[in-house]
Amino acid sequence: MNLKEKVAQAFADHFGGEGILFASAGRINLIGEHTDYNGGFVFPGAIDKVIMADIRPNGTDSANLYSMDLGESASFGFNEEDAPSQQWARYIFGVCRETIKRGGTVKGFDAVFAGNVPLGAGLSSSAALESCFAFAINDLFNGNSIEKFELAKIGQSTEHNYCGVNCGIMDQFASVFGKKDCLIRLDCRSLEYEYFPFKIDGYRLVLVDSVVKHELVDSPYNKRRQSCERVAARLGVDTLRDADMAMLESAKSDISAEDYMRAKFVIEEKERVLDVCNALGRGDINTVGRLMYETHAGLSKDYEVSCEELDFLNDIAKECGVTGSRIMGGGFGGCTINLVANDKYDHFIATAKEKFHAKYGHEPKIYDVIISDGARRL
Ligand code: GLA
Repeated sequence: MNLKEKVAQAFADHFGGEGILFASAGRINLIGEHTDYNGGFVFPGAIDKVIMADIRPNGTDSANLYSMDLGESASFGFNEEDAPSQQWARYIFGVCRETIKRGGTVKGFDAVFAGNVPLGAGLSSSAALESCFAFAINDLFNGNSIEKFELAKIGQSTEHNYCGVNCGIMDQFASVFGKKDCLIRLDCRSLEYEYFPFKIDGYRLVLVDSVVKHELVDSPYNKRRQSCERVAARLGVDTLRDADMAMLESAKSDISAEDYMRAKFVIEEKERVLDVCNALGRGDINTVGRLMYETHAGLSKDYEVSCEELDFLNDIAKECGVTGSRIMGGGFGGCTINLVANDKYDHFIATAKEKFHAKYGHEPKIYDVIISDGARRL
């Protein structure tokens, strides 16, 4: 059975009959990390790994959910005090609440869902879950009257208000706006975006998942964001999008060494996104790759969101002559994204598996990237 059939079968087993199937995707990001909440540019795309939900209005004022992957159920009403205790259900509750807060309609429904977006790999399984339900609720109860950007913001606000992560807009944007064979450059200040057909003859994108997730105390993601906001306030700009290195240098003595490094990375990274788009336009793949390595170095040394395992995978990529490689997503574990010439692919994957296993006792997981559509009714 494929995922669609499995979800439909589980719906029949749990609630009887049929629902309506919706899906939304995980994402990759070619370049532009930790720039979204700084008003900068990102360059993501949706992938062929999805969260899929079978949903049917139930004529009541509450939602009944079953997560196939966890084998757990949850039920909740739609008032603030009805928040469920399970983290996974809070994502869906949050989407309902944020829809209502924006004047949208949410009525009772039964739903079963499952997914094949690897968890904790930095592929935004949570954004896929949020976008899937935001899209479905818009379709089933609001006649698709809520705009796509608003659907992405519903997911983002869910993270802020119900999950404790002060994320930017990139993941939910990519999950909602994703289009087959295209990356999307988003200006996170103006919210203007442009689709770039992405197919480079002779190369492929592959993710190497370290399968490690370092659970760090004190929400390090939110702390990075706070550093950036402190520097922006000191420089008198709304976000670091409006700062440059000269401004940062002139304020260096007034900010902590740590905040300086964080801001330096962001200022450099927002330029790299534009440089990568230009290089792609010229067919200059080596420049794209070199900039990916620069991003990795910045994320590792200045932004400090890498870890030993991911630095090790980045070094292996370099040794194997991989064109571009870097840690992808929020960091602290997860995977690297690699731009590899076809003739180097087999050697790189075999070497990465062998060396990583010898050092850490398990093999990394390998996912070939297939750029696909975002949120949709199936
Ligand atoms: C996470 C967040 C995004 C973005 C990335 C880093 O995926 O959800 O908003 O900040 O980290 O680029």
